Amino acid sequence: MKILITLALALLLISCGEKTEENKRLTIGFSQVGSESGWRTSFSESVKAEAEKRGIELKFSDAQQKQENQIKAIRSFIAQGVDGIVVAPVVETGWKPVLQEAKRAGIPVVIVDRNMALDDDSLYLTRIASDFVEEGRKAARWLMETTAGQCDIVELQGTVGATAAIDRMQGFNEVITGYPEANIIRSQTGEFTRSKGKEVMESFLKAENGGKGICAVWAHNDEMAIGAVLAIKEAGLDPGDDILIVSVDAVPDIFKAMADGDTNATVELSPHMGGPAFDAITAYLNGQQDGPKLVTINGGLYTQETAAEEYRKRTQ
Ligand code: AHR
Repeated sequence: MKILITLALALLLISCGEKTEENKRLTIGFSQVGSESGWRTSFSESVKAEAEKRGIELKFSDAQQKQENQIKAIRSFIAQGVDGIVVAPVVETGWKPVLQEAKRAGIPVVIVDRNMALDDDSLYLTRIASDFVEEGRKAARWLMETTAGQCDIVELQGTVGATAAIDRMQGFNEVITGYPEANIIRSQTGEFTRSKGKEVMESFLKAENGGKGICAVWAHNDEMAIGAVLAIKEAGLDPGDDILIVSVDAVPDIFKAMADGDTNATVELSPHMGGPAFDAITAYLNGQQDGPKLVTINGGLYTQETAAEEYRKRTQ
């Protein structure tokens, strides 16, 4: 009898131990670019909400647009022995050494949103991202259809060295090359922020005879498009009419601007990448090591026609 009780107790202890391991609360470090745009803020909020829903302890670090801060954050996550790391890199280059450190520590890394230029794909588990080249193509196709391919365009680029800027520019240029009467007449970075977008647009307007020669603004994100709206209004022109505006992100503010007739089109970039990133880490920790190296999230193009309704839906 005594032996049976001891055996039962031992089995109970083993099963409790297993349960604790299975239900172990994951700790995940998330290195975010910053809070340069409304889209970025939605992205951070979405990742935090997803972590909370799943009972994940999220260590969130805002790099304020500086790669050196991201590298410090990743090193600190490694030192804390997190179960996984999610990184939204500010620029593409310069990540190999710190990812090698994570690999040596046995910590899986998921890249979200912008890309990292790496020659060794064993340094990360997967990347969850939009096809930024296609976003640029979608914006250009809309503009070429709307203007019958005759348009002098000014371009507000995103952060220099960031995939979202490099690839959107590539996709847009690819399409307009097919239209001999479409030209990018000025192009400069507005760093993905509203204030810089406005400042650069002001300089474009000055340089282009108060804006008279400008047919359209191609802004790599909504935030800079809204900056451009402010600059165009201050210059006494009517944005969305005198000068067309097409951008990327599909944040609520741009739907409001489109509903008011101030901008014309936006391509959606979903901010909901936290779920697939956590899924990949969990699957890896459960022994699945052969997942895809890229998970693509795509969005459509929206125009003024549905803007008021979309704004209502997204702000309710
Ligand atoms: O990397 C994605 C881009 O970064 C978004 O389009 C922009 O709003 C953000 O700052």
